[in-house]
Amino acid sequence: YGGLNQKIDYVFKVVLIGDSAVGKSQLLARFARNEFSIDSKATIGVEFQTRTLIIDTKTVKAQIWDTAGQERYRAVTSAYYRGAVGAMLVYDITKRQTFDHVSRWLEELRSHADNNMIIMLIGNKSDLGSLRAVSIEDAKEFAEREGLFFLETSALEALNVEIAFLTILTDIY
Ligand code: GTP
Ligand code: MG
Repeated sequence: YGGLNQKIDYVFKVVLIGDSAVGKSQLLARFARNEFSIDSKATIGVEFQTRTLIIDTKTVKAQIWDTAGQERYRAVTSAYYRGAVGAMLVYDITKRQTFDHVSRWLEELRSHADNNMIIMLIGNKSDLGSLRAVSIEDAKEFAEREGLFFLETSALEALNVEIAFLTILTDIY
């Protein structure tokens, strides 16, 4: 499995968006390589990583794109979203502002993305529950209103990360 001649049935592009320092790059590192770094540097421009998995007997190559939350480091927006079939909109459960900005990110996403795009709202850093600034109820309500999937994750503790990506990829498939 995984050899050079491996046949790929589908390639799915998924984009990560959300404010700086919410943990987008570490969610990707966890999903793609099962790694985590506490001193993760702010992303500059665009990066992507792939992971190939089997979904329902088909070989699916997930191509996950990651860009900077900081405006000045961001990639050319339209190119970033082009061809994406799924998105993870990430906030930090300990930083209220990152949740307040979610509607802005959603607006940008919807103005560039395909109508059928699968969008998952992610409240990351669930390991920091004692510092919680966004309730699960608030996030759930927002997600329901906007028709998004919702999960809280911890890239640090590898909690729900696999499920979050797999839910998107399975639903796309
Ligand atoms: P930009 O690239 O600037 O947009 O930021 P980003 O969203 O990619 O954030 P990044 O993944 O670089 O993580 C920012 C900081 O949060 C780093 O210090 C990470 O180690 C930390 N971090 C990421 N995920 C978690 C998590 O689940 N729990 C905890 N406690 N810290 C996390
Ligand atoms: Mg980053």
